[in-house]
Amino acid sequence: MKRFVQLSETNKKGRNCLPVLEGTIGPPAIDVKTLYGEYGVLAFDPGYRSTASCRSAITYVDGEEGILLYRGYPIEELAENTSFLEVSHLLLFGELPDPNEKVAFERRVANFTLLHEQILKFFTGFRRDAHPMAIMVGIVGAMSAFYHDNLDISDPDQRMFSAIRLIAKIPTIAAASYTYTIGRPFRYPRNELDYTSNFLQMMFGLPSEDYEVDPVVSSALDKIFILHADHEQNASTSTVRLAGSSGANPYACVAAGIASLWGPSHGGANEAVLDMLEAIGDVKNVGKAVDQAKDADDDYRLMGFGHRVYKNFDPRATVIQKACKDVLDRLGLDDPLLEIAMRLEEIALQDEYFIERKLYPNVDFYSGILLKAIGIPKSLFTAVFALARTTGWVSHWLELHKDDHGIDRPRQLYVGSPLRHMKK
Ligand code: SDX
Repeated sequence: MKRFVQLSETNKKGRNCLPVLEGTIGPPAIDVKTLYGEYGVLAFDPGYRSTASCRSAITYVDGEEGILLYRGYPIEELAENTSFLEVSHLLLFGELPDPNEKVAFERRVANFTLLHEQILKFFTGFRRDAHPMAIMVGIVGAMSAFYHDNLDISDPDQRMFSAIRLIAKIPTIAAASYTYTIGRPFRYPRNELDYTSNFLQMMFGLPSEDYEVDPVVSSALDKIFILHADHEQNASTSTVRLAGSSGANPYACVAAGIASLWGPSHGGANEAVLDMLEAIGDVKNVGKAVDQAKDADDDYRLMGFGHRVYKNFDPRATVIQKACKDVLDRLGLDDPLLEIAMRLEEIALQDEYFIERKLYPNVDFYSGILLKAIGIPKSLFTAVFALARTTGWVSHWLELHKDDHGIDRPRQLYVGSPLRHMKK
């Protein structure tokens, strides 16, 4: 039964109601497309807390219940039973690959892991102390200067070709963005390795000796990639969609997404969590940090806590916390930061300030400790997030070209000066 929302005013066509759109699951949406054209008013929603910017079939998040589905599958099941490339296939094509499709997709990605040799020269233009995210933004943006083929975004085959090319090359770029900063020679991909093991050997392999990928490390990192692959219309994905709506090429759109993800309120939080835990330094200082985070006059926040959508546990945090303990045990490591993090979580979850505001650990709270445990340097934490999220970004970029509502162009509530003229 079609639902409508009644308005107090009637429009030029004598109508005074707006249709309500129903999704498969989740909250319905008032269709306000005609609000300005027929009623002369705008909807005001800074920060988009109550705005559905598009229709999407890729990921579903229920913030109240702490549910995350990729194409309908719970994230916990995917993290436990699939590989990152299987999840990439799921996000791109809508289905998990069957055994033959899995092999074909892995081969298709493996065939595009190399970078154009001249792109390698771009890295040398950066200072050695450049942040890997700054390098990734630059290199990915520059890719459209090299890959002129398959840039006709009106052709679905060329769109998919560019999407898979980005998924294939982003680990090579992320690894090079790190090794360049520590003066280590660029390491070529090895296509006999799986996607995640290939990234690890490009990160840590040396020309002077063979590199043996630790299966515990590779499996943990692959799980981290799965958990970070997509998250509906978050800030960086919305950035990619908005850039894509103008017809910009996929490399420029993903470069914009990387830039947006870098912010400490978004993907930059995993690096900020480790800085915070290191600054707390000891379990005995946890109470002071929690009090400081509650102080309205202090802009100090518990990094890795809170979320615009999750007002319950971020299901990814639960999976990562378990993987964290498992990997530390299996590697025989004992990281005091994990003890500080668990104490911080324990105190915060019992504190009225956090309970009232529904502030729970998010995906970034434990990911930094797990990344550190498997040897990923802190400067690369957000680049690892960007590597994984590239699959989500290109999946949304492909989807937006199917739902062509034209260029995204929000309006505003103007509060500036009324018309005035310069003095003669
Ligand atoms: C990611 O959108 C996504 O899906 C993102 C992401 C993805 O996969 O793409 O899930 C990845 O970005 C996770 C979030 C990582 N960021 C952090 O961990 C940074 C720390 N968190 C905060 O900056 C904050 O919680 C946000 C930005 C994540 C969410 O902010 P909101 O929803 O805008 O909340 P808010 O700023 O309106 O805060 C509401 C209240 C405020 O207090 P009052 O004004 O009511 O007194 O909660 C307080 C805030 O001060 N608050 C915190 C807090 N987060 C919010 N207080 C202390 N510590 C915190 N972390």
